[in-house]
Amino acid sequence: MTSSNSFLKALSSFFRFAPSPEALQETGVQTAIAEAETEAAAIAETVVPPIVEPDASLLATRPRDVQVAQIGDATTVLRSRTWDRLKFEVEYGRQKGTTANAYLIQADKTALLDPPGESFTDIFLTELQQHTDLATLDYVIVGHVNPNRITTLRRLLALAPQATIICSRPAAIALRTIFADGDVQIKPIRGDEVLALGQGHELRFVFVPTPRWPDALCTYDAATRILFTDKFFGAHLCDEPVLDDNWKQLDEDRHYYFDCLHAAQTRQVQAALDKFATFAKAKLYAPGHGPMVRYSLSRLTYDYREWSQQQHTKDLTVALLYTSAYGNTATIGQAIAKGIAQTGVSVESVNCEFADPAEITSLIEQCDGFIIGSPTLGGHAPTQIQTALGIILSTAPRTHLAGVFGSYGWSGEAVDQIEEKLKDSGYRLGFETLRIKFKPTDETLQQCEAAGTEFAQSLRKDKRIRAPYQNAADGQTDRTGQAVGRVTGSLCVLTAQQDDTRLGVLTSWVSQASFNPPGLTIAIAKDQTADLLAHTGEPFVLNILKQGKNLRRYFLKPPSPGEDPFVAIATETATNGCPVLTDALAYLECTLQNRMECGDHWLLYAVVEHGKVLDATGVTAVNHRKSALQQ
Ligand SMILES: Cc1cc2nc3c(=O)[nH]c(=O)nc-3n(C[C@H](O)[C@H](O)[C@H](O)COP(=O)(O)O)c2cc1C
Repeated sequence: MTSSNSFLKALSSFFRFAPSPEALQETGVQTAIAEAETEAAAIAETVVPPIVEPDASLLATRPRDVQVAQIGDATTVLRSRTWDRLKFEVEYGRQKGTTANAYLIQADKTALLDPPGESFTDIFLTELQQHTDLATLDYVIVGHVNPNRITTLRRLLALAPQATIICSRPAAIALRTIFADGDVQIKPIRGDEVLALGQGHELRFVFVPTPRWPDALCTYDAATRILFTDKFFGAHLCDEPVLDDNWKQLDEDRHYYFDCLHAAQTRQVQAALDKFATFAKAKLYAPGHGPMVRYSLSRLTYDYREWSQQQHTKDLTVALLYTSAYGNTATIGQAIAKGIAQTGVSVESVNCEFADPAEITSLIEQCDGFIIGSPTLGGHAPTQIQTALGIILSTAPRTHLAGVFGSYGWSGEAVDQIEEKLKDSGYRLGFETLRIKFKPTDETLQQCEAAGTEFAQSLRKDKRIRAPYQNAADGQTDRTGQAVGRVTGSLCVLTAQQDDTRLGVLTSWVSQASFNPPGLTIAIAKDQTADLLAHTGEPFVLNILKQGKNLRRYFLKPPSPGEDPFVAIATETATNGCPVLTDALAYLECTLQNRMECGDHWLLYAVVEHGKVLDATGVTAVNHRKSALQQ
């Protein structure tokens, strides 16, 4: 079998609806692929993504290593650590590095859980062999199959050919094809099996599929009461503490991780939490990334419920439907979902490969807008996307906002076909269709995030346009809104510098909050802020505008990607590095102390470090509002 043939066979199984090599031969796509061996190499790159280093200035000097610690009886964690951003995916956006946690249980029998991705293959295998003789390894438990992990798995099985892989049934289907050329023993977990390693280490398994990881399997060890949670309860940060002694400081990282990976699949997260509840005696969560969860186990479980619940109480919901063979379209969808979620709009992802039509129909009936993403395979969208599109066209009202995205290799017909069908049917698009060649880059992912935000803002705008009619029907609500609108505030532009980008947000919800130290509270709309001022210690400038100088118009709405409102106005740079609007009345250099979620706004508490009046005779611009809905 040629390499491209075996690759295509793996595709057919790994991505269940992908065409078989034979079918592709008939459709002529095989010829196109054979002609373009270089394209195949590019595709292979998407299967096993290389580590792309973002920016030399972001690189930490400390080399990758493997930290080893005992976390329970006969149980060791091997944390493959990197201090720099591992990949471009949005979940690494906080740029604090990460750990890929693998676990070794050495009782009468030995099991290894979740060997890391190929960025760590060499250092991991070297370290692992210091702790166990691979020739006696009995089991490799795989929580989910990720193309990135296959390299390590392959090398591991070459050293431990006797080991049996334990995984979920969907994972077994993928692995059987990937390892079709080798003699690999794979045992899918079918029900309530117990894997006895001896000395009381009886492993139970729980199948917790989500759109992002449809094959996810978690493991519980009764002897140590450790629940190995894989993608749940993790955080992307790299540090010395193995346990969560400092759990309060982990809050933001954990919440960010949840927002990036789980906020768009909360129905499945809640189902997983229900299943985890059957392991009520668990005393430690051992996640795939970040510190072990010991001291904050109840708290984090509660947080996951709360954060999931919050998604369902939001007033607007976007359905995000996609399929993805190698994860590129999924990664784009994840960035769009993050852009939506950070505006306070709820987003629910569905991987159409694993959803039945009834589930898609119900989601489309309940959503306020929808976005559909597809790779192009053999000149088309995969069958499941075509089915989903059919459901949309027959179910979603034409007033619903729509969006289209997808990864492609050379022609990208799928995205064009979907866009055309939606436009022909009368749907409006909430962002310009996103066509990304192969794997998205850091830059394209930022555009995708911005597109998600733009989509959610349009959705909110639509709702506000409809709102006056609803208010008219409810006179009291209307009168209350008008009364609240009588609260006035000075008009300000909050400015900040993020990497090379200058950001400006208009707000009149500013108030002095403390005298010593001089402190302010400022409310900024969630849909205006993206990741702005999410972390304690971040600097910004509050520019207090003056009457008669219409600076506000430059900041009335968030700029489109690539647009810079600052080019049209005079600025200087404050000592904290943020822009000062030269024509403002005064400015204050501030440092963020705290950020609190308040409905559709973030409330910031900041300490004023320096301040300067720029026009001693000017008068503060005040925002007089007519309704509570205006800032
Ligand atoms: C079997 C196969 C057929 C493909 N056919 C096309 C095609 O007709 N046109 C195109 O633009 N890209 C084609 N591609 C490239 C994929 O669209 C590209 O790899 C994309 O990144 C896959 O997205 P995903 O990771 O979300 O599955 C093909 C890839 C494979 C493996």
